[in-house]
Amino acid sequence: GQMIVVGLIASAVGIAIGLLIDWFPTVGSKQAHKIDTFWDVLIICSVPVFVLVTTVVLFAARDFRMRPGQENLDGPPIHGNTKLEIVWTTIPAVMLVALCAYALITLSDIEKAPAAGNERQITATGQQFAWTFQYNEGGKKFSSTQLYVPINESVKFNVKTDDVLHDFWVPAWRMKIDAVPGITTHYRVTPDKLTGPAGYPVVCAELCGLGHAFMRSTAHVLSKAAYAAWVTKMTTAAAPAAPAGGGGQTAAVDGKTLFTKGETSTGATACGGCHKLADAGTVGGVGPDLTTAIKGKDAAFIKTSILDPNAEITPGFDKGIMPANYGQLLSPAEVDALVKYLQEVAAK
Ligand code: CUA
Repeated sequence: GQMIVVGLIASAVGIAIGLLIDWFPTVGSKQAHKIDTFWDVLIICSVPVFVLVTTVVLFAARDFRMRPGQENLDGPPIHGNTKLEIVWTTIPAVMLVALCAYALITLSDIEKAPAAGNERQITATGQQFAWTFQYNEGGKKFSSTQLYVPINESVKFNVKTDDVLHDFWVPAWRMKIDAVPGITTHYRVTPDKLTGPAGYPVVCAELCGLGHAFMRSTAHVLSKAAYAAWVTKMTTAAAPAAPAGGGGQTAAVDGKTLFTKGETSTGATACGGCHKLADAGTVGGVGPDLTTAIKGKDAAFIKTSILDPNAEITPGFDKGIMPANYGQLLSPAEVDALVKYLQEVAAK
């Protein structure tokens, strides 16, 4: 009796913790709703099983333990119980088959192509250590280092890599797939929640080298009108996208501030995330220590090192640790500001 009461209370508490606490990030796609529902079903099925086994073990340990002064007695020789064995084999087997069927149904559901053809395709390309998104909107091709998609439209992502294994993951959408050298992988997602100005994080979920943790971007889910306006901007302007909410006016860029913290106008991680530089007080250890690497160098060397990181490799560092397209992640004003600041530091 006591055991049943404890078991029921523990199951209820376990299920409540599993379902009532918000364990996951924003639910940002049609797929995410279905995946989170599947998680809830798994919790409801697995918590009572876990509690049953644990409760029986704990009560058995309490009631049948050897007491002080008791002889080390063997238990009675029990020879199995066919009825019990059939029950505890059948119930888990039925549960597993049912959950497996439910998982397969959910999987085919979230991978299904939309009924009304012409689906948008975006290529997500990983490279050490940045994402690039290639668009083809009505025959016009362009690329972006941040991801923009319209709300409530299915997108098929073609996921590629220019070098090693990466993994394209937008946690708010729940969908996630490896970028594998030599092949193109895919998934579909239908974003159904607008993002604020901050967007959702896009991360790399496969350890791909020293800069893995910095291989992040931002996903923006826009209204159909805002998305169309963004596409127009990207297909007409030659320069990379202006900072979101910039209001048309370009503020002067301070090289030291840009180096030290935050992001470039395109959302790329700024230099201090990977490079140590005494003057800026940064401690990043992914790339060369610029305190010594640029000492006495001129502006041309510094500019080339930003725009074409593989032109000259610092001994002890591998080619490709810094994204080869890093120059494209900066606006011309940002490049100039960094060169000016670093040249001042190099001359000290
Ligand atoms: Cu790319 Cu981890």
